[in-house]
Amino acid sequence: MLDFLKNEGIRTDLLDEVMQFQKTNTICPEMTYRIPNPRFHYYGNNVWEEAITALLCAENLLLVGPKATGKNVLAENLAALFRKPKWDISFHVNTDSASLIGTDTFENGQVVLRRGPIYECAINGGFGVLDEINMAKNESIALLHAILDFRRIIDVPGYNKIILNDGTRFIATMNYGYAGTRELNEALTSRFMVIEMPAISAKNLGKLLQREFPHLNPGYLEQFIGLFQDLQKKSENSEISTKSVDLRGLLSAIHLMEKGLTANQALRMGLTSKSFDPYERELVEDVIRLRIPEQLTREKIFA
Ligand SMILES: Nc1ncnc2c1ncn2[C@@H]1O[C@H](COP(=O)(O)OP(=O)(O)O)[C@@H](O)[C@H]1O
Ligand SMILES: [Mg+2]
Repeated sequence: MLDFLKNEGIRTDLLDEVMQFQKTNTICPEMTYRIPNPRFHYYGNNVWEEAITALLCAENLLLVGPKATGKNVLAENLAALFRKPKWDISFHVNTDSASLIGTDTFENGQVVLRRGPIYECAINGGFGVLDEINMAKNESIALLHAILDFRRIIDVPGYNKIILNDGTRFIATMNYGYAGTRELNEALTSRFMVIEMPAISAKNLGKLLQREFPHLNPGYLEQFIGLFQDLQKKSENSEISTKSVDLRGLLSAIHLMEKGLTANQALRMGLTSKSFDPYERELVEDVIRLRIPEQLTREKIFA
């Protein structure tokens, strides 16, 4: 991770401080298995420098942005860079305080607390990824207020006081900008430094595609980048919704092409069919048609 960031040109003084942080905030050996080994690298130097700086200043981070802007990839990359065990904590309808902090269970006739992910993360100096935090319901929100408090002590009725390890950080993610997303309440937002996740740049998308598909023909690499940008522009101009502007879908589609589907079949599955509106699907197909010939097969796509 460190080498990757040096290569990308991230400020070396920041990276030196990260190393220093690793030395002062050691973790216990039993937790090293939780340090992620990311499959994807996050690309975007401004975001990297903002995120690293905030974490070094003991801030918690809120990553806000449309789907597939690399929020979870960045959170995972950060835990890997800082060499911290990571806990993923998601906020679905059934998430309550007990499942986050812990529940009493019987063991050999005694009541013991089975620690939940927040508890473990807090005492072990972990990075807790609070995924889709805006979907949290009120009960969990009250708990989150306590966790993210500057006093770094979780004091919740029914539990012992939990003192946060100095190395513990929380990184929340939140989708924003399309129907069905919820706002986050002000008091909770105020406990974070917020990064608005930008759409990946053409240059960085090129790097990402090259790393993921080393044999991709350079001509088609350009076309896939162009296609994604065309879709972004159409969506910004409100000609189409954001449904088909899906980097995750584009990457998956290219994987399907590697396995032998034609480009059109794969792009229909990865992009076009994400919209359920026939008129919009036609617009997306038009964009694809301008860049990708009919019946394009893998022999042509991969060199
Ligand atoms: N800036 C970026 N750098 C690297 N990968 C990115 C970037 N933006 C999007 N991606 C890719 O998009 C996909 C979805 O990323 P993910 O982190 O799950 O998105 P999110 O959590 O924002 O919905 C991944 O394959 C990831 O590699
Ligand atoms: Mg996500």
